[in-house]
Formats: sequence, C-alpha cells, structure tokens
Amino acid sequence: MAGNITFTMIKPDAVANGHMGNILNDFIQGGFKVRAMKYTWLTEAQAGAFYAVHKERPFYGELVGFMSSGPIVAAVLEKDNAVEDFRKLIGATNPAEAAEGTIRRKYAKSIDANAVHGSDSDANAEIEASFFFSALERF
Ligand code: CMP
Repeated sequence: MAGNITFTMIKPDAVANGHMGNILNDFIQGGFKVRAMKYTWLTEAQAGAFYAVHKERPFYGELVGFMSSGPIVAAVLEKDNAVEDFRKLIGATNPAEAAEGTIRRKYAKSIDANAVHGSDSDANAEIEASFFFSALERF
C-alpha cells in the first residue's frame, strides 16, 4: 500500500527568487498537509550526506555545491499516495520536460536549479524526513 508522507525541499534558487510562499501555497492547494517544516542552510557536508545516493553520478559535485549555496525550506508533507501525487504536482526533474502547471514548470530554470526536491519512494521519504526532523518535530 502506498504511504502517506513525502519529504520535500524548496531549493536555494526558488527561495532566492522569492517563490517560497507561492510554492508552499501550491503544496497546500494540492491537498498536502504540513507535518514538519524548517528554514535552514545546509553545509556542504550535510548536502553531500543527504544526496550520498548520487555520489557516483557526474552531477554530484554541482548538486552538493548548489544545495549548500543558500537557505532552503525542508518539509514533511502528508496526503494519501503522497510520493506519487507529489511527483505529479512538481513535474519532471528537468523543468524543460515538466508538464504545464507543475511547480518546476512554473518556478524552475534548469535541471540543477529545479526549485523543489521530492522523495522518489516511500522508503526514501522516511529516510529523508528522519535526516531533517526528530520525532519531536513531526506533528
Ligand atoms: P532532486 O529531486 O533533488 O534529486 C537529485 C537532483 O540532482 C535532482 O533533483 C536534480 O536537481 C539534480 N540533477 C542534476 N543533473 C541531473 C541528472 N542528469 N539527472 C537527475 N538529476 C540531476
């Protein structure tokens, strides 16, 4: 059965470009409830650890540099079928391929600066949520 939480980050490009409020509104209008949220700035070591699964990929260095280049919003969101429905709401990883009306289509400029992160599985949603939030910070 599909899980009911996903993990997201509003990335440094979207925060710097003033899209934080509109993106949070899109999450809520999309039927997601906020179960945890924080505004923070990752160190390179923290970004590297979060994205360790991509360590061997050619874009890893740039990804880590970008994700530690400015503040982000991290959140745990709840909805039935959260992972799949959230990936539909945000659109394809590459904004050039994202469907009309999706968050990445509206607010992202490139595959690196793609405005938001969304978990790719229920298992990763839990791992990623636990990376940022203790049990006391999730409601
Ligand atoms: P995200 O969902 O945060 O997960 C990994 C990130 O790596 C991805 O979004 C993109 O921003 C970034 N990335 C850069 N190049 C690529 C690529 N070729 N394929 C997948 N992800 C990429």
